Amino acid sequence: MPAVSASAPGKAILFGEHAVVYQRPAIAVPVHQVQARAYVSADPRAPQGHVDIDAPDIDLHTSLSELDPQHPLSLLIAGVQNALGGYPLPALRLRITSSIPIAAGLGSGAAVSVAVSRALSNFLGRPLSDEVISSLAYQAEQVYHGTPSGIDNTVIAYARPIYFVRGQPFLPLKVAEPVTLVIADSGQPASTAQMVGGVAARWREDPARYNALFDAIGEIARQARPLIENGPASELGPLMSANHEALVELGVSSPSLDRLVKAAQQSGALGAKLSGAGGGGNMLALAPAEIAEQVAEALQQAGAVRTIVTTIPAQTLSQES
Ligand code: PMV
Repeated sequence: MPAVSASAPGKAILFGEHAVVYQRPAIAVPVHQVQARAYVSADPRAPQGHVDIDAPDIDLHTSLSELDPQHPLSLLIAGVQNALGGYPLPALRLRITSSIPIAAGLGSGAAVSVAVSRALSNFLGRPLSDEVISSLAYQAEQVYHGTPSGIDNTVIAYARPIYFVRGQPFLPLKVAEPVTLVIADSGQPASTAQMVGGVAARWREDPARYNALFDAIGEIARQARPLIENGPASELGPLMSANHEALVELGVSSPSLDRLVKAAQQSGALGAKLSGAGGGGNMLALAPAEIAEQVAEALQQAGAVRTIVTTIPAQTLSQES
């Protein structure tokens, strides 16, 4: 069996994080500048079923039999086998690399899951559909996050902009005009499970207040959709900044994220917000393409440890890849 590799992009949530856990709509896009990659090759010297795992970015060097059966990778490999009808594994080597920062709101866990399940099923000569790959990644996400909405695994498995409501089929978004985003990393890792758990605890204390915030965020995502589909994209800026304010009210921002959002707004960005679970991780700014580098520089001066400029290309639904 020839060696196979597969990659999966990172992602950014443009609108609706946290509220999406409570069935409000959200919008997410793939970020191709960062990616996870899985390589699968035969291991002619090892016994059948032996899987050697090498993931240098998370310092994991082990074999499947030594890994906790509840580890997301064990669950994922078992999930691929099940999806293929109990397919027996030959001896193989699995190497995983990723340029997606971990615990930073860019979907590193889901991207690793998508890359691994795609590479493994392709290696076995039985490629799985995006739908099955997405649901396998969702199962692995549950180990990290407890109650993931499903937005990360969906946007990463399908690698296209999506409008997403938990528990419903997602809607692929057409994009009328290119949208340039500057993504900046606060450098502070944050646990999605903790941030989501904190919101849940506060929601239980004061459901009326938090439901109203979720409604407001959902409404912002609803208003953003036609701007992405028909333009003008520049009007997404104020909606992003309003979404950030609502996330501050939810208690998921941080002083460094607020500082970066302000720096982006002051350097000419049309709007800015934290992205993902918050508490650290990344923020996004919408910038006219010609000043994106200038906004990135301002963000670095305000403390960003890394910036990525990415453009969501204009795409009609018939241009599907
Ligand atoms: O921090 P991330 O990239 O895992 O994003 C989580 C997004 C949340 O809405 C906070 C949680 C979820 O499951 O949708």
